[in-house]
Amino acid sequence: MADIFEKLVKNYGPLGQHRERAHGYFAFPKLEGAIGSRMKFRGKEMIVWSLNNYLGLANHPEVRATDAAASAEFGLAMPMGARMMSGNSNHHEQLESELAAFEHKEDAILMNFGYQGIMSAIDAICGRHDIIVYDAEAHACILDGMRLHTGHRYVFKHNDIEDFEKQMVRATVLLQKQQAGGILVISEGVFGMAGDQGKLKEIAALKSKYEFRLLVDDAHGFGTLGQTGAGAGEAQGCQDAIDLYFSTFAKSMASIGAFMAGDKAIIDFIRYNIRSQIFAKSLPMSIVLGNLKRLELLKTQPALKERLWYNAKKLQTGLKERGFDIGNTDTPVTPVYMKGGVEEATAMVMDLRENYRIFCSIVVYPVIPKGHIIYRLIPTADHTDIDIEETLVAFTETKAKLDAGAYKVEFIPDMAG
Ligand SMILES: Cc1ncc(COP(=O)(O)O)c(C=O)c1O
Repeated sequence: MADIFEKLVKNYGPLGQHRERAHGYFAFPKLEGAIGSRMKFRGKEMIVWSLNNYLGLANHPEVRATDAAASAEFGLAMPMGARMMSGNSNHHEQLESELAAFEHKEDAILMNFGYQGIMSAIDAICGRHDIIVYDAEAHACILDGMRLHTGHRYVFKHNDIEDFEKQMVRATVLLQKQQAGGILVISEGVFGMAGDQGKLKEIAALKSKYEFRLLVDDAHGFGTLGQTGAGAGEAQGCQDAIDLYFSTFAKSMASIGAFMAGDKAIIDFIRYNIRSQIFAKSLPMSIVLGNLKRLELLKTQPALKERLWYNAKKLQTGLKERGFDIGNTDTPVTPVYMKGGVEEATAMVMDLRENYRIFCSIVVYPVIPKGHIIYRLIPTADHTDIDIEETLVAFTETKAKLDAGAYKVEFIPDMAG
């Protein structure tokens, strides 16, 4: 018999294997100072492109004042217990009804975290005869929700409506055979890596052809898309066809928690059956009050979204004009696709940080195929014209070095600390 821990220390996994040289620099870096477009990393000021603080609410004076006052009044403990037992409050219910109204739904339920929330909602909704049809690039929390599902699932190629229909035919045939169960389709408002919107309108249009319910994870669309900021459904004119609308507060709301909105009867079912909420302490009051303030600003200060889009367009146009490949993004998420190995990507990131003072996230193998690098930039309402101009210069110069082979190094240097 082996010690169950033995295998863990033999193989730390694809990213963990680099931890001794990478920890604190490439992984688990510590950004310090007030959240904004410029923060400190290892004592140096950087232009930061890796925070999903889309609307710049994290450090908005009204948000900071509300967070402070709510924490002073209620601390972090209130209310104690799970919502169902002893952890409910008028403020929790107010936030739910305001979110529901904003999303043009009858009701909404708060969740402590988006990740657990959507996983557990999928678990609550789907029984063993039900079938889930989902996009191949769905976020890990959706995939983990599926791991709790004991019935069948079919995956369709990312945003490929022809393949979606193929999977819907397979699912429908199986349902007819089973004589039981229904279909839940899951997609995203915005795919957070590539920045392309889910084809919600096209999927919604197929409701007349196939029988299914649609759940959309709009983590990156909430607050950033649509005329009022209600998200990808509003932007694509198909909000009514989304049966369950989900978003986290971790991005444009610059907070923590999440919600799901839909018909009252269905949200009530979820409320009474979602294990991640029933068996977990309620969101602290200070977070709920902070979220109410953020939602108020998101609804009443359209200038924040306008500034976000101004910055997103300026950054994306600037990159395209300089010959960069930014793929199919139609949202603020800005991926920059380049070719190179993990070692080259690492050397380029170091050059960007150490010599150009640009801090952005990179995605390399094994998350994406070998030989490819994605630099992922998240513009926010906080960024300035100067931030963008300096970043464009840095990318142009470092890309030239990458193409000239200047970053060809054998090993990832030891940057742990
Ligand atoms: C698409 C998507 N869904 C869900 C989540 C999880 O949300 P949370 O951070 O609230 O757990 C994230 C990341 O935050 C996300 O990007």
